[in-house]
Amino acid sequence: MRIILLGPPGAGKGTQATSIADEFNIPHISTGDIFRYNIKEGTELGKKAKSYMDQGLLVPDEVVVEIVEDRIKQEDCLNGFLLDGFPRTVPQAEALDRVMEKMSVALDNVINIQVDKSVLVERAVGRRICKSCGATYHIKFNPPSKEEQCDKCGGNLYQRDDDNEATVTRRIDVYLNETMPLIEYYSNRGKLTAIDGQQHIDKVFEDIVSVLRSGK
Ligand code: AP5
Ligand code: ZN
Repeated sequence: MRIILLGPPGAGKGTQATSIADEFNIPHISTGDIFRYNIKEGTELGKKAKSYMDQGLLVPDEVVVEIVEDRIKQEDCLNGFLLDGFPRTVPQAEALDRVMEKMSVALDNVINIQVDKSVLVERAVGRRICKSCGATYHIKFNPPSKEEQCDKCGGNLYQRDDDNEATVTRRIDVYLNETMPLIEYYSNRGKLTAIDGQQHIDKVFEDIVSVLRSGK
C-alpha cells in the first residue's frame, strides 16, 4: 500500500503515521524526522535544513525530492510506504508522480487530516516528544502518566525548536499558501479522502484504517 498523509502542522499526521505503518506493515517516511535526525547528527543536510525549519519555512524542493526518491527506492519500500509531510508543494507532488511512474507503482490513497486552524497552535505548542523512541505526547490532550517521561520506554521528553507560537503560526501560513493546493491536485486525480482530525486519536485512526481497508 502506498499512502500519503496530508494535513496542516499539528493535524496529527505523525501520531497517526506510527499506528498506520504498524497496522499495514509498511515503512513510515517522515521528511521532518529525516531532517531532525540530520540536524542532531550535524550533517551537511542538517545544517542546510535547520535554517529553514527554525524560521518555519519549507526546505527547497530539490533537496527534499532527492531524499524521498532515494528512500522510496530502497528494498523495504517494495511493498509500499507511508509518506508523512511529503509532498508539500505542487512541484514536489509532480516530482513524486514522475518517480513513481518510473518505478511502475501507483498511489493508493491520500489521506487529508482536517483540523480547524484555531486548534493547531495549541496542539503544536503542547506537543512533547520522547528523546529515545520518538513517541509523541501532548501536555493536555495526550499526557504521559509521569511528567516529562515516556510511557513506552521511560525516555525524557523534549519540545521541538519550531513548536513555539510564532514559528507554528508561520508554518500554518506556509501550509495554507504552498501545501493547500495539493488538496485540489489529488482530488482531481480521484485519490483524496478527507478525515475528521478533531475526534479522539483512536477514532481518527479507526476512520483511516477503515478507508484504507475498503480500498476507496
Ligand atoms: P514536519 O516535521 O513534517 O512538521 P509539520 O508538518 O509541521 O507537522 P507536525 O509534525 O507539526 O504535525 P503532525 O501533523 O505530525 O502532528 P502530531 O501528530 O505530532 O516538518 C517540520 C519542518 O521540516 C517544516 O516546517 C519544514 O521546514 C521541513 N520539511 C518537512 N518536510 C518538508 C517538505 N516535504 N518540504 C519542505 N520542507 C519540509 O500532533 C501534534 C500534537 O497534537 C501532538 O502533541 C499530539 O499528541 C496531538 N494530537 C494528535 N492528534 C490529536 C487528536 N486527534 N486530538 C488531540 N490531540 C492530538
Ligand atoms: Zn519513548
